[in-house]
Amino acid sequence: MRTTVLFSLIIVLLSFGACQQPQQDIEHSTDTKIDSLISLMTIEEKVGQLTLYTSDMDQTGAYIRKEYENDIKQGKVGAIFNAYGVDYTRRLQEMAVNNTRLRIPLLFGYDVIHGHRTIFPVPLAEAASWNIEAIQHAARIAAIEASAEGLHWTFAPMCDISRDPRWGRVVEGAGEDPFLASLIAEARVKGFQGDDLSDPTTLAACVKHFAAYGAPQAGRDYHAVDMSENMLREVYLPPYKAAVDAGAVTAMTAFNDLNGIPSTSNKFLLTDLLRDEWGFEGFVVTDYTSVMELLYHGVAADTAHAAALALEAGVDMDMQSGFFHQTLPKLVEDKIVDESLIDQAVRRILKVKFQLGLFDDPYKYCSTTREKNEIMQADQLEAARDMGRRSIVLLRNEAQTLPIPQHIKKIAVIGPMGNNKRDMIGSWSAAGDWSKAVDLVEGLKARYPLSEIVFVKGCEIDGEQTEGFNEARRAAADADFVILALGEAYWMSGEAASRSQIDLPGVQQQLAELIIGTGKPVATVIISGRPLTVNWLAQNSPALVQAWFLGTQSGHALADVLSGDYNPSGKLPLTFPRNVGQIPIYYSMKNTGRPFNENSKYTSKYLDVPNTPLFVFGHGLSYTQFEYSHLALEQETYTLDDSIRFEVELANTGSFAGEEIVQVYVHDQLASVTRPVRELKAFKRVWLEAGDSKKVNFSLHPESLGFYKIDGSYGTEPGRFTIFVGGDSNAGLSTEFELR
Ligand code: GLC
Repeated sequence: MRTTVLFSLIIVLLSFGACQQPQQDIEHSTDTKIDSLISLMTIEEKVGQLTLYTSDMDQTGAYIRKEYENDIKQGKVGAIFNAYGVDYTRRLQEMAVNNTRLRIPLLFGYDVIHGHRTIFPVPLAEAASWNIEAIQHAARIAAIEASAEGLHWTFAPMCDISRDPRWGRVVEGAGEDPFLASLIAEARVKGFQGDDLSDPTTLAACVKHFAAYGAPQAGRDYHAVDMSENMLREVYLPPYKAAVDAGAVTAMTAFNDLNGIPSTSNKFLLTDLLRDEWGFEGFVVTDYTSVMELLYHGVAADTAHAAALALEAGVDMDMQSGFFHQTLPKLVEDKIVDESLIDQAVRRILKVKFQLGLFDDPYKYCSTTREKNEIMQADQLEAARDMGRRSIVLLRNEAQTLPIPQHIKKIAVIGPMGNNKRDMIGSWSAAGDWSKAVDLVEGLKARYPLSEIVFVKGCEIDGEQTEGFNEARRAAADADFVILALGEAYWMSGEAASRSQIDLPGVQQQLAELIIGTGKPVATVIISGRPLTVNWLAQNSPALVQAWFLGTQSGHALADVLSGDYNPSGKLPLTFPRNVGQIPIYYSMKNTGRPFNENSKYTSKYLDVPNTPLFVFGHGLSYTQFEYSHLALEQETYTLDDSIRFEVELANTGSFAGEEIVQVYVHDQLASVTRPVRELKAFKRVWLEAGDSKKVNFSLHPESLGFYKIDGSYGTEPGRFTIFVGGDSNAGLSTEFELR
């Protein structure tokens, strides 16, 4: 008891002093406070801070340790995840602060991935908006809601590049391109953390899953990852680095091994790269039971070996395996692990708790007023609806089938995704209440109050039953317009949800053929967490829309686009393959020594499918037409110090106002190593009224054309480059320049 009083006195005195000091002094005094605290801690108390357990309020992994409340009271755990709500987190916090000797507050974490209560479109959908500001705003709203319910820390942004839609977690990322994904990673960190982590409406972010979790062999979740360092550094690492550079204060190790070394025991990743090369100063937490999984990886002989490997590689906090808690005190006693490593990890974790203001007030995030007034508010719901609109991608629209005429008499919604509220909020939907989600039928009824909207499911999402087909066909025949609502259930993407085939599940394809066969005007809406190989629909559905999972406001966002109230502007953040045999398929491929030539047998191709995808990266139509012309460079030759300035003219030649995402791709024609046929290097969202046009200006710096050269160094090589500008990665308008 005496120590507690003494310690509290130390903290009070040091905190008081902090109020009088400028920022850098506060940092210094925080370090002093932390050192003081560590000097008082026993080894068991230190290791307690390195331990993270889940509550049993939500479950995100195979194993839950029921005695977590006793662990808290005994100081055996420093952070709890999957617990939220002011009352519950206050109760757990009181257990820590009132029962432990040093009263160190708990950290509360949760997977606030695309919203907390107001659920936004899944991250892959948000990426399709290419709207960096809106993405940051969405993360900001998620932070406000989550922190209003007692949370301090989110396990986001997920920064895993993926070029394999068989992998279920493609839904959680930002697609295939490092340039776009890096901007999004930065925006999400800024949205979550704001400018000051002590602001009670912010959350500590977590860069995950470090690293290259999105490239599992065969697209099978948790599978091995093996790639060259060039591929790792040029494609998979940039979004993680962007999140670190944006100030993320935590990072999470990935389940996978990378080139034979599990991420969780990978010193190159966690220390040499993350800390020494990138300057990351936060703490590293493992993914769920990843320390224990070193046993299955076959690199750890036992519990103690696994804990030592992880700690020595650079892991600071053990999520859910309990191996740190079980073995580190004895490893230190036996002088197998140096206590300084543990002190270092404790220091990093305590620093985040100080930054969050938890030592000033462990209950600062336990505001019943905020919980009552700052969740699912009108402006938050409107932001989710707006993001939903912007995330929708119009893939095909023959004969202007869409938008649905304003004075339509009867609309038939047919298909299993028409009224599936639970699916609307997708996977990783945190504290989202799916019963509050607006489904497609509800959205259309609200938008077309004078029309008759009928809904016939026709079939289940999965399964072979076709009994509903006749009723569906009759409904289509009786309607003036048909919306086919097809896709995947929310659980068919996300964690542990890889699919070896990515066609429409069940008998949905057969239903589509029956309905489109009626000859009625049909718009097919695909609701899914990944690209689906909808080859037949891409040829036969008059209109085709990729709607992902759009969150709480799904139905309204869809009705906004289907009605033409919002002219679709979304662009695909990843390539849609024709079949899984093409995977991995992505726009920034290499040319090869035998590029495809239809007139020559011995060139790179398949016998049974074209090399081209079903839909290219960056593809997305509008209800209007945009035309590009007059691409002009400021000069023809540049030095490495110049800015490469150019402009293009964009015209809206159709009859709808709308936003176009003007994309800039660059090809390095000759280099010391093979370079992609093109890479995204810039883009701008441009709004134009029908009939208007404008010049769109860009400026690239030669540094942005850098890569890992044949000698292993990074930089830009002189030579000739091609610039392509257009509305997708097939952009044909081009010009060239010389870099000297
Ligand atoms: C899960 C996921 C990870 C998540 C963590 C905590 O297994 O891999 O993304 O943040 O466990 O729920």
